[in-house]
Amino acid sequence: MRDVIIACDFPSREETLSFLDRFPADKKPFVKIGMELYYACGPEIVREIKKRGHRIFLDLKLHDIPNTVKRAMHVLSALNVDMVNLHAAGTTAMMEAALEGLTRPDGTRPLLIAVTQLTSTSQERMEQDLWIPHPMAEVVEHYAECAQKAGLDGVVCSPLEAARIHACCGSDFLTVTPGVRFAGGDAGDQVRVTTPEKARELTSDYIVMGRPITAAPDPVAAYHKAMEAFA
Ligand code: C5P
Repeated sequence: MRDVIIACDFPSREETLSFLDRFPADKKPFVKIGMELYYACGPEIVREIKKRGHRIFLDLKLHDIPNTVKRAMHVLSALNVDMVNLHAAGTTAMMEAALEGLTRPDGTRPLLIAVTQLTSTSQERMEQDLWIPHPMAEVVEHYAECAQKAGLDGVVCSPLEAARIHACCGSDFLTVTPGVRFAGGDAGDQVRVTTPEKARELTSDYIVMGRPITAAPDPVAAYHKAMEAFA
């Protein structure tokens, strides 16, 4: 169940496919396609990576009025991805509409998870910029409860928050956690970070790792190192 998802934050199809070509045919990693690649290449890149046998988390973080998100999710559902997401800040009504749009006529759908607070957001920025005057852990927990009430499968959060979310929403409620770095690695713009070993201890279900794998001198070895430590 636990797995490592590689964030394929590349600007082009060529760079993405040559990165994925490094991995052996019998071990296709679960990958995340985010805004950069999707906006550069469109839905075709999703179809192409899916055809190569990867599981895909399409990380487009939708946030709009409920009707718009519902219709957009309907379109994304047809891409046959494994996981999609939205911002819980869009309200419970938006999350319910998203789920409706995502569900296919036969009742199947990709997993739907909600971003609570971005792992790049600190307590200070949340208070000063977003004007949310509560402790981060409580805000994340409240957003997770709203997502669960709307029928979603889990949340994107920091590994540091995973145990608390499982305690309030149950162990089946998924925690997908970016902000993971190898010990001694560069945090970059991430604020609330931890290691794969620690994320496992903290009960994350999936860790999302981008630069520590994609920018490593040997990305396949870095991926295996993360899998060994976490999965
Ligand atoms: O390179 P790095 O490991 O920081 O990549 C983390 C990935 O997870 C990025 O693609 C980023 O957009 C995504 N993400 C995040 N924090 C969230 C949600 C998604 O870092 N709360």
